[in-house]
Formats: sequence, structure tokens, C-alpha cells
Amino acid sequence: MKTIIGCIEEVMMEAFKASGYEEKFGKVTVSNRPDLCEYQCNGAMAAAKTYHKAPIMIANDVVEKLQDESIFESAQAVNPGFINLKVDRNYLALYLNEMTQDEMLSVEKADSPKTIVIDYGGPNVAKPLHVGHLRSAIIGESIKRMGRFLGHKVIGDVHLGDWGLQMGLIITELSKRQPDLVYFDEDYQGEYPEEAPFTVSELEEIYPTASKKSKEDEDYKNEALEATLELQKGRRGYRALWDQIMKVSVADLKKNYKKLSVDFDLWKGESDADPYIPGLVDYLKEKGYAYMDQGALVVDVKEESDTKEIPPCMILKSDGASLYTTTDLATIVQREGDFHPDEIIYVVDKRQELHFVQVFRCAKKTHLVPEDTELSFVGFGTMNGKDGKPFKTREGGVMRLERLISEINEEMYKKIVENRSVKGDDAHKTAQMVGLSAIKYGDLSNQASKDYVFDVDRFTSFEGNTGPYILYTIVRIKSILNRYKEEGGDIQSGQILGAANDSEKALMMALSKLNSVIQPAFQEKAPHKICSYIYELANAFNSFYHETKILGEENEDQKTSWIQVLILTRKVLETCIGLLGFEAPDRM
Ligand code: ARG
Repeated sequence: MKTIIGCIEEVMMEAFKASGYEEKFGKVTVSNRPDLCEYQCNGAMAAAKTYHKAPIMIANDVVEKLQDESIFESAQAVNPGFINLKVDRNYLALYLNEMTQDEMLSVEKADSPKTIVIDYGGPNVAKPLHVGHLRSAIIGESIKRMGRFLGHKVIGDVHLGDWGLQMGLIITELSKRQPDLVYFDEDYQGEYPEEAPFTVSELEEIYPTASKKSKEDEDYKNEALEATLELQKGRRGYRALWDQIMKVSVADLKKNYKKLSVDFDLWKGESDADPYIPGLVDYLKEKGYAYMDQGALVVDVKEESDTKEIPPCMILKSDGASLYTTTDLATIVQREGDFHPDEIIYVVDKRQELHFVQVFRCAKKTHLVPEDTELSFVGFGTMNGKDGKPFKTREGGVMRLERLISEINEEMYKKIVENRSVKGDDAHKTAQMVGLSAIKYGDLSNQASKDYVFDVDRFTSFEGNTGPYILYTIVRIKSILNRYKEEGGDIQSGQILGAANDSEKALMMALSKLNSVIQPAFQEKAPHKICSYIYELANAFNSFYHETKILGEENEDQKTSWIQVLILTRKVLETCIGLLGFEAPDRM
């Protein structure tokens, strides 16, 4: 469906034309004076210069042409030349009735669907998931869902950090602790055991220990580097051990992402890109893109317009080892081969921006992807605690994701039990749903690139701009609809009538804006726009609810109409939270 602002603009353009002015002056914006009007057109001001006429005269000319337009309740020219517009109530009702019939709720699918790979999550194997990985997962998941909703083919890839030194460190530490393990016996020819020689918790303790040792002990570090190299060269026992680390670690990651309602189509990792590296290196050398600089192989990526120095993209270190850049370039080769994507979106900490500038430039310059492939970096800011420093546990340690989730859930559980709306097992399930909304909405309602303060008390509140508030609104609607059904009401059919009061009109206006929100939110990869929209909508609904006795209404047509408005509000809110990556319970 066409957006309502688009429909208004068409009428305005017509009116400018009919008054003898260029139609381009008919541009319309949402009013910045909602006390005066809903939409406004400032075109008369711009036209004044072209036509050497007072803006108010132009505005008057145009407004005269609008008097019979069914789309407006009022169109007024005000000094010095603004045109203030209010939408007609019946027109708005018609628009919403049409929206109700549309399975996309008025949102239009993309004309030409794109194939998009989203690289998000990015956890590192054998390291516990911590809050630093939370944002990537939450933001990426939302962008993925928006893209799919608009009809794009979106492939989510977790891109595990499963290669490189961290693996060598674990292998080294294990070889010290359990030297008799068959994985370390170079002469061993048989099958390797099914069972992993460690649990996740052990694994998560092994890595930091090994990492610490390697920083203090040069020999230890060299051993780890050697182990990394041998793993990458394919030493049998190390590969088998690596498989075990992967198995244990990935199972744990999957469990955690499931709790977050985050789900990936591909569980590929840096290791999957490794086989593409030799070919990539040869290609870059043969085509003359790469050259040797102090023993290292590099590609220049600086551009004339740069205001700060962009260092060359390093492909191989002087010892022949590949780097983070190499892996990302090889992954691009792999993705191009597998999917030929129109776009690859990376949802990664903004501190990695320079890395991606180098990788993108190098990929474009060396034609690893076609000219028009979009490579997009969605860099997010840090999640801080109330002290303004990166979020920590109360004791000051690194906050593990699992712990964060369970702390929030406990908090929610307490509130829900206090409310006594839900009991027993259901209360736990409800707490999880509401808890997830608190975490995700708390994150997504901020512009991704900004740092934000993760404030547990604020995020879990049922009031204010929070996930639980949005869910509470949905639950409220569900309960009215249930009561209506219990009283024998029919929710299947009914027409929405022109707004009966101002708060209903405001609610209807908010509903009609859905399709002008989703598309730009996806285009700009900005889930926060959906958050502000549903916050506005939930507020509009709650004002309407407080001022209107819905079920007590005696006029049946009016009551049915309100029920339909409620149903539409619920659908819009549920669709939007679905795009943000959470759901509403029936009660809370
Ligand atoms: N594993 C990386 C980290 O924890 C993030 C990976 C981001 N994605 C990428 N294609 N480089 O920092």
C-alpha cells in the first residue's frame, strides 16, 4: 500500500500544479507542531523565491484548491506561508480498513529482492560468550528479520572465531595437562575417541589460563604458535582435537543463542575460509595487486580523498602467516562463490571499523566482488554499566551472557510473581519472554553506533520506553479482546469507523504510519526506528484506552470498530516486536 504521507503528497503536488506552480513544491513532512496539525507542507516558502511572490499568497492559492479534497479534515495556510494539514477521519478509517485486509499490514515488499549475507554474532570458540557479543547478535538478528519481512533473501552467518592462535593455545595447555591423550601421539593411526576430553566449563577455563601463560612465558607462546601452525597444516591429532573443541563449544553457543531467540542459517567460521587463502594470495600476486613490503605481502588501499592515513591491507606476515584481514578477504571469496550476494552486512564492534575499511577497499579494488556489490559495516558502540565503563558483574569481572540473562530473568520473575497474574511454571516462561524483551529492546532502542548504559532497573520497568512496557500494552489488548470474546463478541469481522475522539484519531494516525517506518528502518539498518515507532504507538494506544470505555460501549457498530482498531494495534505491535526479535506472552 502507498504510504499515507505519499498519498497526501500526491494531492499537494496536484494542487500546486493546478495553481500554476511547479509540483515539486508539494513535498510534505510529518508536522513538527502536532498541536496544530498532523502533516505540513512548506513548499510555498521555497516557491516564493522562484515566483517572486509572498509565500502566504502561494499557500492561499494552493489551499483554495484543496477545499474539496476528501483526504483532509482541514488544510490551512498560515503565516508566513506554511500549509497545515489534518487528515480526514473517514479517509483514515478507509486506509486502516485496507491495512487490516493486507497480510503485510500495508508494508510493501522490495521490488527487486536482494540476496544478502549478514555476518553477525562472531563469537570465539572456547571463549565464553560475553556481553560484547550480545549487541552483534541482537542487532544482526533484527536486521535479518527486517530484510526477510521485506522479501529479501537473507542468509545469517555466525562467522565463528574458530581458527588462529586461540586454538593453538588450547591445544598447548591441554598437552601440558593431559600429555597422555592420544591426540598428542604423532604415531597414532587409529580412530580418535568419541568423547571429548573436557567439558565446556573446563574449556572456558583453559583458554584464559593459556592466554595468560603465553603472555608471561615466551617458550609457551612459541609452542602455541607452533601448535597453531601444525593444526592449520592439518596434523591429524590436532585436527581431531579441534573437532572436539568445536563440538563442545558450538553446542554451548547454540544453547545460548537459542535463549536469545537468535538463529543462524550458517555456522561457518574462520576455518572455513582457510582453504581459500592460497588461491587468494596467488591471485593477488599474479594480478599485481599485492607487493612485498619489509617481508610482508600487502595491498595498498589508501585513496586520494582520505583525510586520515589508511594503512595498507596486510595479506601475509613476513613469516608467511595469514591475518584477520586475510581471513575476511577469503571469506568474501567464499561467499561470492556460494551466494553471489548483492550485499554483505557486517555487524561488528565499531572499534573494528578500520579493519573493515581496509577489507572492503581491498575486496573492491582487487575485484573479489563485482563493482556493485554492497559491503556494509554496521559498527556498534559499547554496552556500558551505570559507571560508564564496559558492563561488568557486580564483582567487577567479565559479565558472561548466560549470567546476564539469568539475572534479568530472576528480576522479571520477582515482578511477575508480585503481580500475581501468572503462576508456577508459566511464571518462569513469562519471565523469560519479558526478560528477553527487556534486554533486546534496551539495546535496540539506542542507535546502534552509540555506546549505551545497560540499566537493569530501567530496562525491566513496565513503564517508560522499555520492552516490558510494549509487551504490557500487547497483553492489555489481548485481555480486552478475550473479555470481548467471552461476552460473545465477534472478532472476525467489523469495519473501522472514523475516529470518535482525539485520542482515537492519534492512535489511528500512528497505525497508519507503519509502512513509512519499516522500509527506511531496514534501509538504514536502524532497528531503533522501529522501537521509537512502537513506543509512540503504545503511548497512543494507552491514552486511547484510558479515555475510552471500550467494552461498555452501547453502540454496537462503534464497539466493533474499536475492537478492530485494537486487533490492528495488536498485529502491528506484534509484527514490530517480531522484527526486533522477541514475542509477547498472553499474560504478565
Ligand atoms: N570474532 C570476532 C571478534 O570477536 C568478530 C568477527 C566479526 N566478523 C568478521 N567477519 N570479522 O572480535
